[in-house]
Amino acid sequence: MPYKDKINKEKLPRHIAIIMDGNGRWAMSKGKFRIFGHKNGVKAVREVSEACAEMGVKNLTLYAFSTENWSRPKAEVNALMELLVKTISSETKTLMKNDIRLNTIGNLKSLPISCQKELNEAMEKTASNKRMNLILALSYSSKWDIIRSIKSIAQQVKNGKIDIEDINEEMVTSELSTHKWPHPELLIRTSGEHRISNFLLWEIAYSEFYFTTTLWPDFTKEDLYKAIIDYQQRERRFGKTSEQITTDENYS
Ligand code: IPE
Ligand code: IPE
Ligand code: MG
Repeated sequence: MPYKDKINKEKLPRHIAIIMDGNGRWAMSKGKFRIFGHKNGVKAVREVSEACAEMGVKNLTLYAFSTENWSRPKAEVNALMELLVKTISSETKTLMKNDIRLNTIGNLKSLPISCQKELNEAMEKTASNKRMNLILALSYSSKWDIIRSIKSIAQQVKNGKIDIEDINEEMVTSELSTHKWPHPELLIRTSGEHRISNFLLWEIAYSEFYFTTTLWPDFTKEDLYKAIIDYQQRERRFGKTSEQITTDENYS
């Protein structure tokens, strides 16, 4: 049976987050420069976005550039920014065709003006698309976002709008840039690394993790289906005992 047919449509994650890793190693293994790997990673982005939209996954967050990635060699950073501008401008048509809305999280203001412009145009153009949210994490780090949330809450306390005792989980969540979407049920990282690298620390408190040694440019729809099947075989307990868990609870 093809992997796709093994997926239970009733138990799809509402939100999948992916740490797209391994572009550099993929290129080096072919005797090419790292940027060749980034260019080939775009195809995997297209595949995965399309597969999620086709299946009915409503939200897909892709970690494309971290705050820490600014420390890479200048030539690589510049090439990545250039690739981002080109990709956004060439892919907007496909987003429209597939009814996908583009969103971003991260410190957009730190990106080159040309990137900001391309992103803002694409976000505006796709704003009423309904099938799926594609959320690109750009110049993003979770600690950066959590600090923003803390500052905003502290300001509200200072202004006398809320009492310090009112601060709760919902409030912290609502001040994060991810507040519009449910937290990811499934987090995938490619390339064999087993770490989070400052991605969605708050939001993945109860996510299921899936690690694969596949390098990002080689990641296909089939790999995504495998990850979803693996996820669907897990029991999500949220602190309860196995006996307390009903099927309904397991995937909501
Ligand atoms: C992921 O691939 C893409 C970005 C972080 C921009 P890497 O560039 O990290 O590739 P490796 O991990 O060095 O192979
Ligand atoms: C994480 O990958 C960031 C992105 C995929 C954008 P890195 O390759 O930068 O992570 P580390 O440095 O190996 O942890
Ligand atoms: Mg890497």
